Amino acid sequence: MTDAPHLTVIDHPLVQHKLTIMRDKRTSTSGFRKLLREISLLLAYEVTRELDLTTTEIETPLCPMQAPVLEGKKLALISILRAGNGLLDGILELIPAARVGFIGLYRDPVTLQPVQYYSKVPADLDLRMVIVVDPMLATGNSSAAAIDLLKKAGARNLRFLCLLAAPEGVARMREAHPDVPIFTAALDERLDEQGYILPGLGDAGDRMFGTK
Ligand code: URA
Repeated sequence: MTDAPHLTVIDHPLVQHKLTIMRDKRTSTSGFRKLLREISLLLAYEVTRELDLTTTEIETPLCPMQAPVLEGKKLALISILRAGNGLLDGILELIPAARVGFIGLYRDPVTLQPVQYYSKVPADLDLRMVIVVDPMLATGNSSAAAIDLLKKAGARNLRFLCLLAAPEGVARMREAHPDVPIFTAALDERLDEQGYILPGLGDAGDRMFGTK
């Protein structure tokens, strides 16, 4: 459990500026991907703020000192396929030692519920801060299902990181996983009838991979 707020909007000016360019439909696939990598570094900085520190003895060129280092087992990053991979790449540049897992979910066309088709996650999730990444928190159904799965696999200390969140998705996550803080660059207005975030940025996977 954590006593952090359930929703943190990362309103740093650089994040907001980059996000606006990403939302713009005139932004190319390569531009979108570059901005996503840059913005993910800034978001990673905020979402890892509560990592525990300890000290280690080192010697500077002038004298010995006790200097801060990250404590114990560190991070696991879990990407929700496929759009999660866009956020993952940038964060891994900042934290190359993080363990990485992947969860694949699709929406059953009849029940509209998320169905898992792939899961491969690190074994020692109970010892790590687990950051789940997915750019768009829309209905919240797949995010909540991914976190169910991770809790069953032992995760205790979880965060959810996205680029955009809809109020519907935040409410769903608060109901299902009140212990999992959400970090986002913006809280948008609402979902449309197809479950897209408005005003949003469109389909994040299509924007980053150029599939539409
Ligand atoms: N997934 C997306 O890629 N975009 C949305 O707006 C909602 C879900």
